[in-house]
Amino acid sequence: MNKCVAALLLILALSACGNGNHGAASGASSSPSTGSDDDSSSLSAMAQIGKKAFFDTTLSGFKDMSCADCHSPEYAYGPPNSLAVQLGSDGESYGTRAVPSLRYKDMTPAYSDEAENPDGVTLSSPGGGFMDDGRADSLADQITFPLLNPVEMDNPSKAAVVEALKIGAYAAQFEQVFGANVFDDTDAAFADLGQALQAFQREDISFHPYSSKYDLYIENKIGGGLTPAEKRGLEVFNTADIGNCVACHYGGASFDGNTGLMTDFTYQAIGAPRNPDIPNNDDPAYYDMGLCGPYRTDHTPAQLGTPDAYCGQFKVPTLRNVATRTVFFHNGVFHTLDQVVHFYNTRDTNPEYWYPSSGGTGTPVDNPDYALQPTFVPGATVDKFDDLPADEQGSIDEEVPLGTGVGGDNTLGGGTEPRAVHSTPSMTEQDITDLICFLDTLTDGYQPPETAPTHGACVN
Ligand code: HEC
Ligand code: HEC
Repeated sequence: MNKCVAALLLILALSACGNGNHGAASGASSSPSTGSDDDSSSLSAMAQIGKKAFFDTTLSGFKDMSCADCHSPEYAYGPPNSLAVQLGSDGESYGTRAVPSLRYKDMTPAYSDEAENPDGVTLSSPGGGFMDDGRADSLADQITFPLLNPVEMDNPSKAAVVEALKIGAYAAQFEQVFGANVFDDTDAAFADLGQALQAFQREDISFHPYSSKYDLYIENKIGGGLTPAEKRGLEVFNTADIGNCVACHYGGASFDGNTGLMTDFTYQAIGAPRNPDIPNNDDPAYYDMGLCGPYRTDHTPAQLGTPDAYCGQFKVPTLRNVATRTVFFHNGVFHTLDQVVHFYNTRDTNPEYWYPSSGGTGTPVDNPDYALQPTFVPGATVDKFDDLPADEQGSIDEEVPLGTGVGGDNTLGGGTEPRAVHSTPSMTEQDITDLICFLDTLTDGYQPPETAPTHGACVN
């Protein structure tokens, strides 16, 4: 290895450790206060503007909503409530997707149909990009969506946003950083705002604190010992024929050298049940199909009803801080981790727990408490994968713990063969309890207790 390369690798290694160490050393850095007025001194001038903009309600159509209203610093920059979709600036329109966390997004590569997989083994496939369908290539480009979306921040135009900046509290700072005449060119000023918001999300430690119990554990730090229950949960997570979460929520070293992002940035079709709580779903002809539309348009099926491999695929999200959420999947159809994990375990063995059914005869049978559907009539027909048109179900994933358990996508391109299904769920109830204990260790801001507990939930 030549010296320059060695030196470069050393710098990369140090900066990667730097990230982790910094976060772990200051566990409190993930506290809500980091998002507001305290220490900004470590941020560049551009990122300081981004921070002001992130909390600035004057950047919305009705001057009543900032980025932080949906991406709350107190909830790992995720939603502060359990609503599937949020109310927009106009006070009457609802969004169409659940709010994702903005943590650990800074190093996401741009979208590609043939993205490299960070595990270094899996063949290239759709991956990267921001939003659940990857339609924004960078954090800077992404800002157009919330700022101009009529059901979110509801500005009529980029000019309206730039005007708000121009008369706003930090206009002088904006001019200082981006040039005295910055407000003369609307497109350029709007792009500068994107750069500022991106700089804030990249630089501020609160977006990537690496301060969870799991971080202490993988870095072998004091206080990072996992309990027996958490260790068993990690084992379930990683074991190919049990939880197999790691197949998509990849926790090894990622592109930026950091470990434990719990995503491989790919897209998969999991077949989340349709969520009647989303107003758009009142229209039976409306389907949110992720990579194949409606919001991205480059993979839209040529004809309605033509099988398309991209349909139904949504981004694999990071599982960091997932235990702080009360709304899960792109359509927010689930509200507890217990539901999510049971869904993975029984989507195919007991679809009647999750999807609506019709017909049948006799007395309805009670489904388990975690199920979305309270009861099932014997002999009824289950409308499985009801949030995708029948022709577009070809890419539904069948890896363990789902489906046949025999591998990845079933019939890319849309097969019509009936699916074979393994007859028993791959996880036991104990596995599920342990797995959820492990997911809890991914929450930032962990402070090791003075003395380790010897009994209680998630201990033995
Ligand atoms: C009304 C709620 C709302 C507001 C306000 C809002 N967002 Fe979002 N944000 C969302 C939703 C919903 C998504 C997912 C949308 C999708 O996938 O189509 C999202 C996605 C994102 C993503 C992509 C995350 C990922 O996982 O790829 C980023 C980055 C982001 N928002 C930043 C911002 C910024 C910066 C602002 C302020 C300028 C903002 N958001 C304002 C609701 C909101
Ligand atoms: C085949 C790939 C794959 C496997 C295997 C997998 N997941 Fe996922 N996971 C996804 C995708 C894709 C989504 C997003 C689905 C959506 O938005 O509709 C997701 C979403 C989630 C969410 C919701 C996160 C959020 O912010 O809304 C949780 C929690 C989760 N997975 C946990 C797990 C666990 C635990 C396992 C193992 C038992 C697992 N996943 C196995 C692909 C996978």
